[in-house]
Amino acid sequence: MSGIALIIGGGSGIGAASARSLAAEGHHVAVADLREAAARDVAGALPGGTGRSYVADAADERSLVDLFAAVEREMGDIRVLVVAAGTPGYIDGARPTIRGMPVDAWDAVMALNARGPMICIREMLRRREARPVADARIVLIGSMAAQTLAINSPASYVASKGAMMALARVAAGEAAALGVSVNVVAPGAIDTPMLRGVMPKERDEAYFGATIAGRAGSADEIAAAVAFLASTKSSYINGACIDVNGGLLMR
Ligand SMILES: NC(=O)c1ccc[n+]([C@@H]2O[C@H](COP(=O)([O-])OP(=O)(O)OC[C@H]3O[C@@H](n4cnc5c(N)ncnc54)[C@H](O)[C@@H]3O)[C@@H](O)[C@H]2O)c1
Repeated sequence: MSGIALIIGGGSGIGAASARSLAAEGHHVAVADLREAAARDVAGALPGGTGRSYVADAADERSLVDLFAAVEREMGDIRVLVVAAGTPGYIDGARPTIRGMPVDAWDAVMALNARGPMICIREMLRRREARPVADARIVLIGSMAAQTLAINSPASYVASKGAMMALARVAAGEAAALGVSVNVVAPGAIDTPMLRGVMPKERDEAYFGATIAGRAGSADEIAAAVAFLASTKSSYINGACIDVNGGLLMR
């Protein structure tokens, strides 16, 4: 199964791994990121040599609207949308408590982690309503932090991921008539620059030791679930959340 895939937040970690795995399966991949050089490096190294890079701010409506227009103009109608851009919501390297939460910091996390996915879904659905694409897919990267007591994560992060994961269920209901499925992958602790930016190495043993796997996950292990949801093999899965957390949370 191939087609055009747009990965938002594709310049690093889970988004970059998803771009690689979709490209390996024959997709023409648009790698969009706030960081131009990162998007360009990932797109340029994709298997198949058909990747293209785009600069976009997933917290900005205009930027996202322009991104969808540019990708469809230059590459074709999008079959697979993956929204991986996100922020952990730390402030100056520290986890803000609710008591210490500045409203503008809260709003910034919500704008990227919750409003951004809504705008991405909106743009994708408007376009697939105008020009349907067979087996169209939306895959959002949620978080285990929104499924359990996540005392190490800022409330803004947890609440924004919870909002995004609830949004996916509503979106699945609206998108079905347009031939688009909407699903979430909820990672546990995945060894990416984002995790390393907020979690010191000395916490590894305590944290990853609690998983059945006994280690952190890799971005490729999340990308495998993304690729499955993007494929036609997921044809009876909709509004679902696939937990990929090494057994850290079972439900
Ligand atoms: N790493 C983990 O342990 C983990 C766990 C659960 C969920 N997640 C989620 O997975 C997703 C990907 O995280 P990751 O760990 O791969 O992080 P990462 O930092 O490696 O990659 C995130 C990418 O998003 C881009 N980005 C940030 N702000 C953006 C914006 N405004 N517009 C466009 N792009 C932007 C960054 O430049 C970066 O390339 C995030 O939504 C994150 O919340 C990660």
